[in-house]
Amino acid sequence: MNSFYVTTPIYYVNAKPHLGHAYTTILADTVNRFHLLLQERTYFLTGTDEHGDKIVQAAADNNQDPQSYVDAISAQFQELWPQLGIATDQFIRTTQERHKQTVQRFLQLVYDNGDIYFGEYGGYYCFGCERFYTEKELADGLCPDHLKKPEYIQEANYFFRMSSYQDWLREYIQDNPDFIQPSQYRNEVLAMLREPMDDLCISRPKSRLTWGIELPFDSRYVTYVWFDALINYISALDWPSGEKFAAFWPFAHHVVAKDILKPHAIFWPTMLKAAGLQPYKGLRVHGYWKVDEAKMSKSLGNVVEPLSMRTKYGLDGFRYFLMREMHFGHDGSFTEPALVNRFNADLANDLGNLFNRSLAMTHKYFQGAVPECGPLCPEDREVLDLGHKAVEAYIDHFQSFQVAQALEAFWEFVRGMNRYIDAMAPWGLNKEGNSERLQTVMAVVLASLRRIALAVWPVMPDAGEKLLQQLGQDPDPKQADLRAEGRDWTMLAPGTRVAKTSNLFPRQELDMDRSKGDEDWAGKQAASRKAARKAKDVREAKEPAEIEFPDFQKLDLRVGTVVQAEPVPKADKLLKLQVDIGEDEPRQIVAGLAQDFSPAEVQGRQVVVVANLKARKMRGVTSQGMVLAVHDVQGLRLLGPEEAVQAGSRVS
Ligand code: ME8
Ligand code: MG
Repeated sequence: MNSFYVTTPIYYVNAKPHLGHAYTTILADTVNRFHLLLQERTYFLTGTDEHGDKIVQAAADNNQDPQSYVDAISAQFQELWPQLGIATDQFIRTTQERHKQTVQRFLQLVYDNGDIYFGEYGGYYCFGCERFYTEKELADGLCPDHLKKPEYIQEANYFFRMSSYQDWLREYIQDNPDFIQPSQYRNEVLAMLREPMDDLCISRPKSRLTWGIELPFDSRYVTYVWFDALINYISALDWPSGEKFAAFWPFAHHVVAKDILKPHAIFWPTMLKAAGLQPYKGLRVHGYWKVDEAKMSKSLGNVVEPLSMRTKYGLDGFRYFLMREMHFGHDGSFTEPALVNRFNADLANDLGNLFNRSLAMTHKYFQGAVPECGPLCPEDREVLDLGHKAVEAYIDHFQSFQVAQALEAFWEFVRGMNRYIDAMAPWGLNKEGNSERLQTVMAVVLASLRRIALAVWPVMPDAGEKLLQQLGQDPDPKQADLRAEGRDWTMLAPGTRVAKTSNLFPRQELDMDRSKGDEDWAGKQAASRKAARKAKDVREAKEPAEIEFPDFQKLDLRVGTVVQAEPVPKADKLLKLQVDIGEDEPRQIVAGLAQDFSPAEVQGRQVVVVANLKARKMRGVTSQGMVLAVHDVQGLRLLGPEEAVQAGSRVS
């Protein structure tokens, strides 16, 4: 059995969790789940980084002592992750006693090996990054990340002989192309390693900072935050003796953003080498999320809160967008319109429709039971083959953390299935009475749905489990081996009952109310369940009887322009409209629109009118026609022409 170990950075507790933290952690969760689908043994670690100057500062700003302050913020991170569908194996905190002891053991080991010495150093220190910068690394004298002028600090401290491992590291990275990926970051690190390198200052005098871990060989000093923080990746595995360490360390993958490339790519491997440990397996570096093209920052007031996105668009849609939108290694732009578009195109249309129509047909033609698969035709083989290729591409991309490309490749199959249904036209086969073909086509469709449900699970665990349930399958996707899916087809057992409808991805509308917090989550969920039920009732209403073309011709359908709209007194569902349909005077039409539209929203719109409907009175008001509308899960939509047409134009 293969093993896989994935970590996120441990986040500083000087601020609340935001979109950036959520992205890295959701990405790690998604990749971890992918490895579970490959039947691997996995371990997933996240946590918080709680020592250092800026934490002390943040605590003071909040009138708290450091310990109560870090307890509170760390708890916010810890409580957030499950709400974002993130399932970790451990949440580590650097203030845990066990971690402190591991850091001291590590320091002592490196000290005993002779790689730590006492000396004097002056340099430019950025408190935001908690590290010294060389002049070359600064941008116009400022820290490139925080855009602040670093402070010049000169004091006696302990140093780690990082420079003695510079040549070793450069060769190691050259010999192991997979060590740091994507390659632009690998090249960046190699470039840094071609320049002369300083040793690493690893202590702070207690006279300046007490909020840290004491050096085991000099109680006047505490250790520098990065030395403390990086060791979390092995203290979580109970290094040196733990079973977990033996099982998982050789398979460690660290996921970080580009801001902390240098500590992970240079400090950490040389520290490990000095302590006699093997390097981690891979560093995976992603870009930055920007918000509407700007850097996310408190001062700009554009910090995206993960929970409010979940509230507005649902967890599955939020996770899907993050994973689908950011191409690994590049920066991504977070905008709500892009999220809504992505949701509607990929989830509501492609995926949602595929499930909805397939389940509905299974009920219509087979009373909801999976049919037996007959002999396959070339078209069936073709779509099954598309499925194999999609799974293979998906696995390849996922293995290199390219989740966006994995989803992109897989959606070829989702759309391919929709095309297959259109081309096979089960409704036509049903009409012709070709039951053998109908059974085979539907068996192929349903088998593909199972595969699709499995493949979406890492990204959308809730939806993946629900889709499996709708197909009458074990909702624990870990039962299935994704790699085997790339070779063979698992047909669903004939007779398995499937759900009547799916409805997991109702179309979304843009909701720019930024003040929305999590409070209204439950309310919104209840409302959307209600809407889903309503839509289902609408869809399940009796199908009308067949009509002849002349029957249809009896309808006088016209496009009209709403010239005026007003409420009908004492009827909260009705609007009274005056609609110009090219006659001498506008028609008065009473329509049940008031719960979904205000008068102002309908005024000026073009609508489709049934013009020869016998006049009738509604609440005492005469209505001379009817306006056509559609019921959707989200409510009511008016039908109208794509572009403005002359009022009174016939619809045919
Ligand atoms: O650096 N886009 O913690 P930190 C994408 N404690 N990811 C973002 C992001 C953005 N705009 N903003 C933050 C630290 N991140 C140290 C780490 S590890 C041993 C110690 C994510 O709270 C991204 O993963 O500043 C980035 O690397 C991390 O948060 C920085 O978190
Ligand atoms: Mg940071």
